[in-house]
Amino acid sequence: MENSLNVNSNEEIEPYNNDNGTVNEPININDGDVKSNLKNTNKSLLRFITCGSVDDGKSTLIGRMLYDAKFILKDQLDSLIKESKSFGTQNGEIDFALLVDGLAAEREQGITIDVAYRFFATDKRKFIVADTPGHEEYTRNMATGASTADLAIILIDARKSILQQTKRHSFIANLLGIKHILVAVNKMDLVDYSQDIFDEIKDDYKLIADNLGIDDLSFIPISALKGDNIVKKSMDMKWYNGPPLIEYLENIETISSIIPSHKNNNFRLPVQWINRPDLDFRGFCGTIASGKIITGDKIVTLPSGKSSIVKSILVGDNEVKTAFSGQAITITLNDEIDISRGDIIVNPASRPMVNNAFQAHIIWMNDNEMLVDKNYQFKSCNKIISGNIRKINHKININDFCHINTKNLSLNEVGMVDIELDQSLAFDSYNDNKTTGAFIMIDRLTNETVACGMIIDQIKSENNNLFWQKTSIDAEDHARQKSQKPIILWFTGLSGSGKSSIANIVEKKLYGLGKHSFILDGDNIRHGLSKDLDFSQNDRVENIRRISEVAKLMSDAGLIVLTSFISPFASDRQMAKKMLGIKYTEIFIDTPLAICQQRDPKGLYKKVKAGEIRNFTGIDSPYEKPINPDIHIKSHYANIEDCADLIIKYLHKNNLI
Ligand code: ADX
Repeated sequence: MENSLNVNSNEEIEPYNNDNGTVNEPININDGDVKSNLKNTNKSLLRFITCGSVDDGKSTLIGRMLYDAKFILKDQLDSLIKESKSFGTQNGEIDFALLVDGLAAEREQGITIDVAYRFFATDKRKFIVADTPGHEEYTRNMATGASTADLAIILIDARKSILQQTKRHSFIANLLGIKHILVAVNKMDLVDYSQDIFDEIKDDYKLIADNLGIDDLSFIPISALKGDNIVKKSMDMKWYNGPPLIEYLENIETISSIIPSHKNNNFRLPVQWINRPDLDFRGFCGTIASGKIITGDKIVTLPSGKSSIVKSILVGDNEVKTAFSGQAITITLNDEIDISRGDIIVNPASRPMVNNAFQAHIIWMNDNEMLVDKNYQFKSCNKIISGNIRKINHKININDFCHINTKNLSLNEVGMVDIELDQSLAFDSYNDNKTTGAFIMIDRLTNETVACGMIIDQIKSENNNLFWQKTSIDAEDHARQKSQKPIILWFTGLSGSGKSSIANIVEKKLYGLGKHSFILDGDNIRHGLSKDLDFSQNDRVENIRRISEVAKLMSDAGLIVLTSFISPFASDRQMAKKMLGIKYTEIFIDTPLAICQQRDPKGLYKKVKAGEIRNFTGIDSPYEKPINPDIHIKSHYANIEDCADLIIKYLHKNNLI
């Protein structure tokens, strides 16, 4: 099947204005009529999303709308009729689901990823519907599609009424700031077009909507398959007085058409690229996230806070005087100020927040649980900063939208969290700006997108009232007095790998050399400083955070610190490395699990086998091997004395002692 309805085909149409004056990205389609229809600049544009699984009739509804709006090409229609006869589920009648599912198959072949945007137009309006696959990754894809939508159609199968996923979709649509919800009660033909059933669903859904605080809510009883109340009013549901679906979509006035984003004053240009073809030209490129900009306007770049005046604005190669939200532009400035990719250029009269701590809702999208204090990357606009979730304030129970206390989030769960980044970020609340108020979280190790987030507000931390007390004798003085370079020898490896034994000999040798040192050892620390922690992932992360902090203080005191902790997670070691800088030396004691089990110095592996210990590293809790340690020791090939010598040799060779 051709992908002529797909955004990602080859032919291009010029960017066009919707009636808000905002310029939308070019749309690519390859059918003549369709093209002229979309090019009509007088029509307004409605972006919407359909929520529901394939079983609820989502594919059929989208297929039916494309068909009724005459957005199916002749050859597509011919093959649809043919395929419906052979493979359809509708006794030879047109099976619209086949049309959309056919396009979905293209998507699986890599033509589009995650969300396919389908276009159609009627005489009155143009539409972009984000079509998200209705499978396991639904929440994630829905979040992607919903972030630009004005309206969500929540599909409910009249026979099944409200399901948990109806609540989940409604909650997420609301969380993502979709102000208009249309509940389409589908398959009315299968419940004898019963008004009672429709009214019952309506009453039940209203309770949900009240709970969520949905602003604008409508209900339409439909049969996507039979075409009831899609374009024409159904003769079988004369009791329904409202408009059919398409008429409703054509006429709804959305918030964004009433308050177009270019009309607000909040000019935001996230810088994507700096164009410096020669010494005379320095242009800052990006897509305007909101507001407008005029040559001569004052601007400020964040987070640095430097200001200047707009010298020129380019859209493509053309110089313009004014540019609006949605346009990809290049601007030049009167002054040579330092701006990097990821900075945001804004209107100084309405600045975003700049902070490294904020509260946000996140939708967790990964099979691995979200861990408090684990180091993740956060990407907002074009900036990537590492940081942590400091605290989960609550997660949402999707059945009753109640807040639940929790220590972690699993796949598809939504939580309200406190985030702390390693550097400051310029951002808005998601309510004010869907671009500069949104972010994604990336796992450092796998590079997977693990969550999407919507910023609520900055955290004006109590730390604002705390000041770093400068001492007269600083870290350098301490080190100088001890005539040594403070370093941290970070031993990592399985339990029984020999970390503590080797660290012990290394310390003896350092002592012999007149060095001042101290060992922080897993078992010992867990008797005191970390006595409140167990071996869950969360607590291990916290354990390593504390150790990193203590190691840092000790190194500031001028000591050589030897830490001996399993420290099983690469991201935590990364966090320690980041905190300790060049002083951090990673030593991987690489002893195979089988040998550790054989040695079993504390009899713990035996206990694990007997089922007396759970979450044991290497058995039912993971150990992520260091990929590029500074020193890699296979202790089982040598005696521990030689291993310690190897480490001392390394320190000499690198001028560390
Ligand atoms: S870490 O994972 O947080 O780095 P840490 O090094 O502090 O662990 O503690 C590991 C020591 O605790 C092991 O050497 C072992 O003696 C003991 N221990 C007790 N239970 C466990 C467990 N479930 N997993 C690993 N080590 C355990």
